[in-house]
Amino acid sequence: MSAKSNKGGAQAPLLGSKIRLNIEKLAIGGAGVARHEGMVVFVPQAAPNEEVLAEVTLVKKNFVEAKILEVLNPGASRRTPPCPVANVCGGCNWQHITEEQQLAQKEKLVFETLKKFNPSLEFEYLPIQKSPRSLRYRNRIQPKFQHGRFGFFARNSHDIVEINDCPITEEALTEKFAEVKTWAQQKNAKELLRLEMYISEEGLVRYGLITDDDDGIGFSQVNRFQNEDLVRTALDWAGDYEFKNVFDLYAGAGNFTFPLAQKYSSSTITGVELNPKLVERAKSKIKEKRMKYFLSDVENYMRRAQIGTEDLVLLDPPRAGASEYIMRALASAAPKRIIYISCHPVSLARDLNWFFAWAQKLGKSAKLARVQTFEMFPQTDHVETIAELRVDS
Ligand SMILES: C[S@@+](CC[C@H](N)C(=O)[O-])C[C@H]1O[C@@H](n2cnc3c(N)ncnc32)[C@H](O)[C@@H]1O
Repeated sequence: MSAKSNKGGAQAPLLGSKIRLNIEKLAIGGAGVARHEGMVVFVPQAAPNEEVLAEVTLVKKNFVEAKILEVLNPGASRRTPPCPVANVCGGCNWQHITEEQQLAQKEKLVFETLKKFNPSLEFEYLPIQKSPRSLRYRNRIQPKFQHGRFGFFARNSHDIVEINDCPITEEALTEKFAEVKTWAQQKNAKELLRLEMYISEEGLVRYGLITDDDDGIGFSQVNRFQNEDLVRTALDWAGDYEFKNVFDLYAGAGNFTFPLAQKYSSSTITGVELNPKLVERAKSKIKEKRMKYFLSDVENYMRRAQIGTEDLVLLDPPRAGASEYIMRALASAAPKRIIYISCHPVSLARDLNWFFAWAQKLGKSAKLARVQTFEMFPQTDHVETIAELRVDS
């Protein structure tokens, strides 16, 4: 077997070979990035600016993956993880990095991703907003149970890592672990049980099974402490206008819809969401005629939506982002403000590109006014971003 080289002439190391690597930075997905004879190497569980001895585990045309065998010279931000099972559990991938460095890397990753997709994009980039809590922040988790073992899936595996605690989860939930384990044990099931535990809006601990027929409570913001800041920022960026209509797309159970309705007290408010449980929950709280909630796919809704230049649109899509059709419809409708909340920088960058490309084709002047990252998911590589878009009608 000989080493392969790609189009750029970079030589891929052989599968199973041991190589010394200098980790330059972290990538989306959480792995460290290094170069070996011109080839990009992704190294999970690495910290920036460290030297490691790693074994090549995957060889592709344009990149390689390697696992750390030994940290030869640890980076300044490498630390002992606060959780004793962090190195094996599939839940958190950045516990071995200081919180300061996690924030710095997220801020940098989002900026670089937006610029990579659209180098000419200019925008005000505000410093990352820290989470009020970096541990004990999660209010919804999905543990597993099988053969008497209660815990989370191990990294890249369906083996269960047993836990008695989870330091990123709120204590109201972790205090119930023993009770939930006993409850699961009584089911006497041989197969894997997927569980869900969460703190309800009323502050009560709830738990149950996730099955093929019941996918649990559906989406909710898992970090209620930071969510307050995110909602406040979205309302602040939307501005002090008397919008005619306010649209909350991908509205969930109304996390933004109800605060928007409170702020814009004379606007009509429309929420659009695909999950029936979330729509039902939101509808049960609606008390005013000017508020409407639709059970619909956002793209389908946009085909009949009447969005005008005196309106506000907030969109908060899942990780896959929105779509070209939706971004084109927004560029064409030219609402007074668009607030885009994203949980994946790549889909955000792609959607922004569609938006600006279509604004240009339609002869409209559009700009990305400001962007800020929010630390919603400490100890992981996940990051939330808020962006304000303006388009002249
Ligand atoms: C990131 S969550 C945001 C929810 C809400 N804005 C919040 O803060 O709680 C995305 C939401 O979009 C919903 N969703 C996913 N795909 C959708 C689609 N094609 N059309 C409408 N809603 C969708 C999901 O069910 C989820 O509630």
